[in-house]
Amino acid sequence: MSAPLKLGLAGLGTVGISALERLLSMENELAVKTSRGIRVQAVSARNRNKDRGVDLSGLDWYSDPVEMATSDKIDVFVELIGGDTGAAEDAVRAAIMAGKHVITANKALLAKHGNELARLAEEHNVSINFEAAVAGGIPVIKAIRESLTSNDITRVYGILNGTCNYILTRMEDEGLSFEACLKDAQDLGYAEADPSFDIEGNDTAHKLSILSSLAFGHEIDADSIFLEGITSITSADIAAARELGYRIKLLGVAQKTDTGIEQRVHPTMVPLDSAIAQIDGVTNAVAIEGDAIGMITLSGPGAGGEATASAVLADIVDIARGLEVKPLGLPASLLEPYRPAAMRAHEGGYYIRLRVIDEPGVFASIANRMAQQCISLESIVQRKAKYKVEQKSEMITANKKPQDLVLITYETTEFAIRTAIESIVSDGHVVASPQVIRIERL
Ligand code: NDP
Ligand code: HSE
Repeated sequence: MSAPLKLGLAGLGTVGISALERLLSMENELAVKTSRGIRVQAVSARNRNKDRGVDLSGLDWYSDPVEMATSDKIDVFVELIGGDTGAAEDAVRAAIMAGKHVITANKALLAKHGNELARLAEEHNVSINFEAAVAGGIPVIKAIRESLTSNDITRVYGILNGTCNYILTRMEDEGLSFEACLKDAQDLGYAEADPSFDIEGNDTAHKLSILSSLAFGHEIDADSIFLEGITSITSADIAAARELGYRIKLLGVAQKTDTGIEQRVHPTMVPLDSAIAQIDGVTNAVAIEGDAIGMITLSGPGAGGEATASAVLADIVDIARGLEVKPLGLPASLLEPYRPAAMRAHEGGYYIRLRVIDEPGVFASIANRMAQQCISLESIVQRKAKYKVEQKSEMITANKKPQDLVLITYETTEFAIRTAIESIVSDGHVVASPQVIRIERL
């Protein structure tokens, strides 16, 4: 048997502690599976005195993860701290430059510095493995980077954030408030340290930028992603979606178009009978469309200590087995610059909810504005505005109650929709910000 692989684990929070427990309890099985021992040599976190429910006495302790990352006592640096700057970034760079393999669950770091870190790792002949960074326990990195290499991939999309899917599911099923659901997601360890990264869509964008790079062979470019989170989704939208035969999911979508790669993250209406509509709670799902496979969908737990630790351990086992793959599939020098498709050219159907004062001519004026942009309407539903949303307007009086006008359009363009809505707003009929949700063709 080869010498044991020695790990330094930085970060002992939700993911770090689950990974550590699993490594300690599976020591013998892992040795058999990899034909070499895997030993946790050292750990690092901020607070040495915190009771983490695991005996750390036999392990070297480092308050400074950079010091651990460069220590001669470890072969692999496992980064489970989080954040795209500071300790995580410094320690990952230091580890690579010291010739250590790196494993990270940190999608924010990869979204920001992934191209450069991949180059650095190649220069220093080490691996960066990051299965846990996208979709928790689902082995989607391996699937795209290794198992589907012979496919011409045309679209990758999915539910990539467990926290948002958990919130949307419970709001719909149990009628709970957004805030209550978010609090539970935080208590369960699903949310990021700063949960605005989840609910504003940044976390999904970070993951999508990685999947898009692997699927289409371009550099990671998270900053160019069109981004809308779920904070504006109300119970009114969730209820209206269901009545119209849809559910609302936060999707990340990367797809090839004639003008480039479209990368977008936004709340999305998906047909009730689609596979993605059945994905509830913290579960994630990723669909990959390619010329040889048609489509495959992978689903599983998208967040939480145990599920994410499963992916971290898979990466460790790959290193112990000597499996080495370029971090982003291709040599970093061959990755193409990201060529974005303009969002205004996006084509699809739209759900539009307009809160209006019900008076003669309003409906005709709205329909006219839509027609001016050649937008065809599939359905229009008018109903009393029974759900509370922001509606500050002097137009609301005892006799003039607001109504919600819900429009579903046939396929049109983002440009046409934005232009039509601007005109409708300037006509002065709406008493609250219009709600626009894209419908995905699945
Ligand atoms: P936690 O906040 O639970 O844990 C973070 C850990 O990092 C803590 O142990 C903390 O120490 C330690 N830490 C923070 N700053 C430093 C520092 N300067 N030096 C050393 N240690 C430090 O985060 P999670 O476990 O939830 O997430 C870790 C990573 O995994 C993040 O990148 C996250 O995005 C990613 N991830 C998380 C998932 C999840 O479900 N939670 C799923 C997939 C990925 P201390 O405990 O002493 O405060
Ligand atoms: N906060 C993330 C989520 C963790 O909720 O999906 C998993 O990446």
